[in-house]
Amino acid sequence: MNASNLTPPLLEVSELSVTYARRQAWRRKVLETRVVKSVSFSIAPGETLAVVGESGSGKTSIGRAILGLAPVSGGTIRLDGRDITFADNAERRRLASDMQVIFQNPYGSLNPSLTVGDILTEPLRVREKLSQTASLKIVQQLLERVGMPADAANRYPGNFSGGQRQRIAIARALSVRPRLVICDEPTSALDVSTQATVLDLLAELQRDTGMSYLFISHDLAVVRRFADRVAVLHKGAIVETGSVEAVCDHPEHPYTRALIAAAPVPDPLLQRARRQARLRAIQLAAGQPQPGQTNE
Ligand SMILES: Nc1ncnc2c1ncn2[C@@H]1O[C@H](COP(=O)(O)OP(=O)(O)OP(=O)(O)O)[C@@H](O)[C@H]1O
Ligand SMILES: [Mg+2]
Repeated sequence: MNASNLTPPLLEVSELSVTYARRQAWRRKVLETRVVKSVSFSIAPGETLAVVGESGSGKTSIGRAILGLAPVSGGTIRLDGRDITFADNAERRRLASDMQVIFQNPYGSLNPSLTVGDILTEPLRVREKLSQTASLKIVQQLLERVGMPADAANRYPGNFSGGQRQRIAIARALSVRPRLVICDEPTSALDVSTQATVLDLLAELQRDTGMSYLFISHDLAVVRRFADRVAVLHKGAIVETGSVEAVCDHPEHPYTRALIAAAPVPDPLLQRARRQARLRAIQLAAGQPQPGQTNE
């Protein structure tokens, strides 16, 4: 999965800012909040970059800005060197062949009134007319690819568990053979064992297809297992970026240390040690002196 530094990036985000405007009903005034602040990163072909940060740090806003769904107030987004920051609707439709998204909530992201077969071919039908036989064949291949039974095609999303629905969402994203998939917390609504199988599937598909992932998560344990590089987002700005090993094993920024210390672990003793480390990291970040404190 590791990509060479010499490979030109597939996605290049430079100085991206996202600002939401909200009009107060009782006043004429428009309140503007910049929730993503001059964020820069790139993703090489076949690479997984994780964006981690706590709730509200701006992770989803970055993903949505790339998809043209959030108000960009500065910076540029390039795909294969092409500026797509303000792509119009026609270009967005074309871009859907290159970029797809998998959302966190598999209960809300699949249209409950369509059969799984129709859901899977939806992104393809935007692009081309499909005969009944061609559709059927594609659907069967996609279902098999994500480990779902063939008879799932005629059933509705309501018949499936969260993990199965996420497999269907993955199959839908795959249908157009995208080069980049934005995974916005794709496993955080699933239980731990289902999480692992869905992550394994995503990793396997990446090995087979060479696609890149922008992997949005608040879970460092998942990121550590899954990503090549990490960008740590704090209040809309990237505070640290590097390989998974460098960032998770030798975090430099106090916020990253606090994030790592906050990650839940199954061992209570380790959990207590982490809690103490987290408190120390927070005190350090606040500039409070640490008697006898060594760098972790
Ligand atoms: N459509 C919107 N209009 C106004 N503010 C928004 C909108 N969407 C998000 N925000 C605000 O932008 C900030 C960043 O939100 P965002 O959803 O990007 O964070 P996140 O890191 O994905 O959080 P989470 O981990 O909870 O999903 C938050 O303060 C949120 O309230
Ligand atoms: Mg989010």
